[in-house]
Amino acid sequence: MNCFLVSIILPYFIFSFGKELAILPSLKQYWIIKGSTLKLACIHNGTQASQEHSLSFWKSNTHIIVSNGVTVNTIAISHPHDARLTIRTLNITKSDVQFSDGGPWKCILGQNIGNFKEEAVIDVRVLEFQSAEYDIPDILLEDNKLIVHCNAFGVNPTDTNYTFTTEWRKVSEGKDQVLGNSSKYTIFTANRTLEIVKPLREDAGDYRCVLIFNKEDNSSCQEVRSQPFNVKAVPKIETHDKDKNMYLGETLELRCTTSGFPKPSITWMKNGTALNQTERIHPKEDKLVIYNLRFDDEGDYQCVASHPQFNSTDRAKMRVKFRDIKEVLSGGKGYIQVYLWTYILFLLSMLQCGLYAELML
Ligand SMILES: *[C@@H]1O[C@H](CO)[C@@H](O)[C@H](O)[C@H]1NC(C)=O
Ligand SMILES: *[C@@H]1O[C@H](CO)[C@@H](O)[C@H](O)[C@H]1NC(C)=O
Ligand SMILES: *[C@@H]1O[C@H](CO)[C@@H](O)[C@H](O)[C@H]1NC(C)=O
Ligand SMILES: *[C@@H]1O[C@H](CO)[C@@H](O)[C@H](O)[C@H]1NC(C)=O
Ligand SMILES: *[C@@H]1O[C@H](CO)[C@@H](O)[C@H](O)[C@H]1NC(C)=O
Ligand SMILES: *[C@@H]1O[C@H](CO)[C@@H](O)[C@H](O)[C@H]1NC(C)=O
Ligand SMILES: *[C@@H]1O[C@H](CO)[C@@H](O)[C@H](O)[C@H]1NC(C)=O
Ligand SMILES: *[C@@H]1O[C@H](CO)[C@@H](O)[C@H](O)[C@H]1NC(C)=O
Ligand SMILES: *[C@@H]1O[C@H](CO)[C@@H](O)[C@H](O)[C@H]1NC(C)=O
Repeated sequence: MNCFLVSIILPYFIFSFGKELAILPSLKQYWIIKGSTLKLACIHNGTQASQEHSLSFWKSNTHIIVSNGVTVNTIAISHPHDARLTIRTLNITKSDVQFSDGGPWKCILGQNIGNFKEEAVIDVRVLEFQSAEYDIPDILLEDNKLIVHCNAFGVNPTDTNYTFTTEWRKVSEGKDQVLGNSSKYTIFTANRTLEIVKPLREDAGDYRCVLIFNKEDNSSCQEVRSQPFNVKAVPKIETHDKDKNMYLGETLELRCTTSGFPKPSITWMKNGTALNQTERIHPKEDKLVIYNLRFDDEGDYQCVASHPQFNSTDRAKMRVKFRDIKEVLSGGKGYIQVYLWTYILFLLSMLQCGLYAELML
């Protein structure tokens, strides 16, 4: 089942109404988040609609006119296939909705309030999610739990005029993944609480609670998503390259991978100064590349993982130096092998020569 989702923009004229007068969204009860924009459209699809008919929006006996964050638009569209039909739309937009904007909103068709022909009503309800930020602790205790609350003001569990259920979702790669009871999560529906059991760095991310109102009633079923609750983890360098011994003119590559939420960025330092991009030097997010190495490229390199939301950074040091001639003479590991192979090849070729010599004879 697909419930009406607050963030979806309505395809206004796809609907075909049984009624001559209707309010969109076509919900009995319309939940809206405080501070967001309320958009209502009143549509009159009349068989005898004339210029004498007027459409107007009312809230608690107050005629809604352009003022104080409200915009009103009217359009008239004649039905192209039948001259008797006229579809008229009255849109209202109320920005920065407050709790006081909740209540029944009416659209009235008629010449004046005392002499109306028809009215349509929508029950606007305002709610507000309490935002929160959580930190993944550095040291995980034995029975550690991270408790995320979904506090929604304006929603009353004892109000019998609506029902609602709570769902928890983790936002990963832009998609919402619905969470269920598992070894990782415990979900308490009664107090709208999510417990993350023994939270690890990989559990950091955006969580949100989703209230599904009147799930069983198609005409007022609606899904309202909270803003994300950030579960944060400080920047950390997960892996990095070792120290490197290089030759002159070679290409140096140093790698660093990070974890953390929000995702940290990397800056590259050399002997304590930040490296800037040049033709030869390419300090990238996860990799530093230096082409055509020069002697003055020797030094202590560092990758520094940071994010402006944290005061803490993580660093990894990688020393880069040149192989020098003494290393070759004293028989560095690599050189022993080279010597050995050259010697073996030499012996082989000697043997071959011997063989040929025998055959020739
Ligand atoms: C308007 O009403 C007519 C007649 O009832 C109907 O055929 C038409 O689909 C309606 N149009 C819309 C947009 O609801
Ligand atoms: C009414 O609102 C809808 C959706 O926001 C919009 O597409 C349409 O253009 C509006 N009509 C007028 C007359 O502003
Ligand atoms: C809830 O429903 C009752 C009965 O239908 C009604 O009297 C009451 O006003 C409603 N409450 C709200 C807050 O709309
Ligand atoms: C998850 O498990 C807890 C305790 O084990 C239980 O109280 C709760 O109702 C369960 N939640 C769901 C959504 O099944
Ligand atoms: C939520 O309710 C469950 C049991 O119903 C309880 O174990 C848990 O401590 C409660 N959480 C909070 C934060 O109140
Ligand atoms: C709600 O809509 C679904 C299909 O969209 C339908 O199967 C179901 O019967 C409807 N329920 C009610 C109460 O109208
Ligand atoms: C990189 O650029 C910054 C600002 O442009 C400068 O302060 C810094 O000294 C430069 N670093 C190097 C290694 O040139
Ligand atoms: C960087 O430091 C290393 C040793 O710590 C030193 O050998 C090298 O000369 C330094 N490089 C520069 C450009 O200062
Ligand atoms: C970072 O440190 C400064 C001063 O020490 C402090 O005012 C600020 O709140 C800290 N920011 C964070 C995100 O911890």
